Amino acid sequence: MKRSLRSLPAAALDGRRALVRVDFNCPIKDGQVTDNTRIRASLPTITYLREKGARVVLLSHLGRPKGRDPKQSLKPCATELERLLGAPVAFIDDPAGADAVTVTKRLPRGGVAVVENTRFDAGEEKNDATLAGTFATLGDLYVNDAFGSAHRAHSSTAAVAALLKPAVSGFLMEKELEYLGGALEQPKRPFVSVLGGAKVSGKIDLIENLLPRVDAILVGGAMACTFFRAMGLETGTSLVEADRVEMAKALMAKAGDKLVLPKGAVIAQKLEAGVETRAVARDQIPAGWAMFDIDPETEREFARRIQGAGTVVWNGPMGVFETPPFDHGTLAVARALADATAKGVTTVVGGGDSAAAVAQMGLDDKMSHVSTGGGASLEFLEGKDLPGVSALDDA
Ligand code: 3PG
Repeated sequence: MKRSLRSLPAAALDGRRALVRVDFNCPIKDGQVTDNTRIRASLPTITYLREKGARVVLLSHLGRPKGRDPKQSLKPCATELERLLGAPVAFIDDPAGADAVTVTKRLPRGGVAVVENTRFDAGEEKNDATLAGTFATLGDLYVNDAFGSAHRAHSSTAAVAALLKPAVSGFLMEKELEYLGGALEQPKRPFVSVLGGAKVSGKIDLIENLLPRVDAILVGGAMACTFFRAMGLETGTSLVEADRVEMAKALMAKAGDKLVLPKGAVIAQKLEAGVETRAVARDQIPAGWAMFDIDPETEREFARRIQGAGTVVWNGPMGVFETPPFDHGTLAVARALADATAKGVTTVVGGGDSAAAVAQMGLDDKMSHVSTGGGASLEFLEGKDLPGVSALDDA
């Protein structure tokens, strides 16, 4: 357990400069934030600090710039935050600039400043101590609310936490760890995991970590085809990782009944909207055709298992959901999770594509928890240590 922002007494916040690492890595088009989910997710921490009279200084990366790049400036995020808060937000162009510390000290109680993209300095991704020292001059305490970046050992997520004390977790960070950690450590049974995506190679560590904990793993997406091949089935032109077939065989032997593969597939000759599609049994995929989604029978089976579960963790789409009609299986799983949540099932959606599918359907608030971290939620569920979390003070 890590020390929480809530454990700090009022005097530790009133008038103090709280340096808060947030994850404002949002999509931006023409200088505007097109999805403000991550900014909204950080508001409980920011608002709490403002109400306690702290001066709030926010750090975040955006994209993967190579040096300073105006196109990857955090300014649009600062403008969006200003809109959401209905209060002015100062902008610090350069954390090492002559006036940066002065700006933070001149903020009024409850005032907010955003520092320019942490990755404009090459030291950030090297977890450079000098850059962390520069960040540390901008605050009197450190709060990490950037769950989405917690799998990165960078200056603003790791090194700074050793220099600026106390170093505590924000409310979003806590909520993420509570739901993802709760699912792994104390799931309500049956515990069902739904895994999808194109490649089994990216999910091996996840399957290995989940297998001893879950009651069932429902597999969808093109990764199912590597398992089909391991069963000796014809897979047409479906995406199969030939070099993982043996490993898929070994996983199936180890998992036994826990691994539930699709009974059938929606197939087509090419990946295009409006092409002819067929729903076939998994042993009926003809040469020249490829699986792009799970079939309706599998949708129904997965929905039944999801609704009969106590806890569900979902990571990865069931088909190529960016290209309708191959979004059908993914949307069916999203709907099944929403219905299950209403019946009291704890549903946790990993970030990335599954979170995007849930958002596309407007079902975000129908899940127990939708993670704001793609890579971070995956690494957490794989059982890996998250450097941004380990660096914080113990409770
Ligand atoms: C994310 O979007 O997953 C996080 O913000 C981390 O970004 P990164 O993969 O560029 O480190």
